[in-house]
Amino acid sequence: ERGVVVLNNGEKMPLLGLGTWKSSDGSVKAAVTSAVECGYRHIDCAAIYGNEIEVGEALSGLFAAGTVSRSDLWVTSKLWNSMHASADVEKAVDKTLADLGLDYLDLYLVHWPVTGVKGERLSPPIEETWKAMETLVDKGKCKSIGVSNFSLKKIVAMKEYWRIPPAVNQVELHPLWRQDGLIQGCKDLGVHVTAYSPLGSPDSADMFGHSGRSLMKHPVVLDVAEKASKTVAQVLIKWALDRGTSVLPKSSNPDRIRANFDVQDWCLDPDLFAKLSAVEPQSRMLHGEFWLNPSGPYKTLADLWDDDD
Ligand code: A2P
Repeated sequence: ERGVVVLNNGEKMPLLGLGTWKSSDGSVKAAVTSAVECGYRHIDCAAIYGNEIEVGEALSGLFAAGTVSRSDLWVTSKLWNSMHASADVEKAVDKTLADLGLDYLDLYLVHWPVTGVKGERLSPPIEETWKAMETLVDKGKCKSIGVSNFSLKKIVAMKEYWRIPPAVNQVELHPLWRQDGLIQGCKDLGVHVTAYSPLGSPDSADMFGHSGRSLMKHPVVLDVAEKASKTVAQVLIKWALDRGTSVLPKSSNPDRIRANFDVQDWCLDPDLFAKLSAVEPQSRMLHGEFWLNPSGPYKTLADLWDDDD
């Protein structure tokens, strides 16, 4: 089936979704509404984005108007770091479901392998959190569960106790941070990989101290877009799809939302795909240094990311 990936539990996830991070202050309702109206069937949310009530207003409006029904849509949300204890996981999903106005999520992700509790070991451990996530599937609150910002090593460690393997690992991916090793390793485990910040998040470059680096202005990227006669965003989204990942471009502008979805009826020439796959230098935009602490569990970036790549 075109435009969807069959996850390791048989669920079909639309490959192109709308990102909603930093869409707020009244813009996310219009963004979600115009996205679904122009054909998006996958919305990526998170409690920490602080806008799930507004996303929910858009969804209830779309259901009331008959634009889509609940079963036509794929809605993802994410468990925040402060809610990893087994007693908190269900409270967190209940809050997200109430805010979104839904009775189940298609996918619920552990947002980070981070809890904010300092000490040698991650506390509570991922095992405790994951078992609580599995219970949400048993109860029908989430159809699929997964992780985000997890290294391959951290996913492999979960094999010791998982009853339900993660369906998805959602990570930063774009031509300046390809993570080929992580993608291959996840593929070998049957874990589908989703790309966040596929446009290099031009709006967060300053926040993460990368204001000098712009993927959307990279000469190779500009050249590929010109040769393909497509927009820069379109070739970046197409590149993500062509390498087998799902992809979550964020926009709160209806024209860009529509244009970003127009990636189904054309092909990116293999030479141009190869050019985008050779952009250098490679580096993360979102390093996660804010999660480091001298008393652990992540003392260094290598502890957090396990130097997968
Ligand atoms: P806007 O919301 O005003 O459209 P990422 O998905 O990598 O995090 O990037 C999101 C950023 O890219 C947002 O600042 C968004 O701005 C911008 N953006 C999204 N689509 C396009 C596009 N087609 N052309 C230019 N900028 C875009």
